[in-house]
Amino acid sequence: MRVMVTGGAGYIGSHAVRELLDRGHRVVVYDNLSTGFRTAVDDRAEFIFGNTNSFETLNSAFRAHGIEAVLHFAANIEVGESVLNPHKYYQNNLGNTLNLLMAMRDAQVNKIIFSSTAAVYGNPEKCPIVESHPKLAINPYGRSKLMTEMVLEDFAAAYGLKYAVLRYFNVAGAHPEGDIGEAHDPETHLIPRVLKATLDPWAEVKIFGTDYPTSDGTCIRDYIHVMDLIDAHILALESLGSEKCEVYNLGNERGFSVKEIIKTCETVTGRKLSVKEEARRAGDPATLIASSEKIRKHLGWKPQYTHLEDIVKHAWQWHRTHPQGYKTVEPLLQNDVIYL
Ligand code: UFG
Repeated sequence: MRVMVTGGAGYIGSHAVRELLDRGHRVVVYDNLSTGFRTAVDDRAEFIFGNTNSFETLNSAFRAHGIEAVLHFAANIEVGESVLNPHKYYQNNLGNTLNLLMAMRDAQVNKIIFSSTAAVYGNPEKCPIVESHPKLAINPYGRSKLMTEMVLEDFAAAYGLKYAVLRYFNVAGAHPEGDIGEAHDPETHLIPRVLKATLDPWAEVKIFGTDYPTSDGTCIRDYIHVMDLIDAHILALESLGSEKCEVYNLGNERGFSVKEIIKTCETVTGRKLSVKEEARRAGDPATLIASSEKIRKHLGWKPQYTHLEDIVKHAWQWHRTHPQGYKTVEPLLQNDVIYL
């Protein structure tokens, strides 16, 4: 299939690009490099430097490359920032996705895999969380994703759009070959923060809240390996058209506390960390664990890296060898298409 990957220079997008190519798909990356890195993009993919707010450039890219489907990763993802700057989140995550969908419709591209989030559930009433659980997002980030899910549903009913919504729990790990991985600035996620702290003798790992109603008082999350997450995307992509449009949770159905994560990182790296207990971070639910039964049953998804240690080992392989991430701001390459 000829696939456009928006946000293909980002953490999850770059892993999707590599895997799509390895499985024989053709890939065009569409990214404005606002948070992604040109060097994260596999050489076999074509690269378009463009914004998802431009109907014309998206539309001409679809037509020029004969795109058949879109994997849409381009989005802002920081919960805290979304509370301070909701406009940015509704503009980019909702508004620009609407623009993308209009451009797709005009160019007769009618398949999309949409990256959504466990944040649509807010503070869950019970775990494991099934897809039908009430959607009571508690921040603009979660709401921007939830609203976009609704848009997709309406576009499917009215215009025949084929979509799958994938609600991610906590994505972690890196490509087993170790040359692409997670590189956010600022880094807010627990596993990369802890692993990076092991590389700095002066660093302290902060635990945000030790008074949660959990076994050790720290928050519990469901960690999924980025490669298993991508495998689910490709299964969903290849089933579009034959399967009904669906929403799927993506997690490992097991929860680990912040303290357990720190301990596992210490074991994997063989380094002892200095830990500081701090107050709760605003907006953190105590426990988030997915039920992923639906995607296992419908699409036969079978995650490969279900052990936390394997997830952390791959993340560590990346951080150890790339302590500065992708380091430099890469120039565009000679054949890149630039839409400004
Ligand atoms: N945490 C720490 N110390 C740190 C970083 C994180 O204690 O230095 C804690 C957090 O407070 C939280 C847990 O570790 O309890 C996990 O935090 P992350 O930031 O790694 O992940 P989140 O669960 O906050 O975020 C994930 C996704 C979001 C999504 C959210 C849904 O990354 O995109 O789940 O709740 F919105």
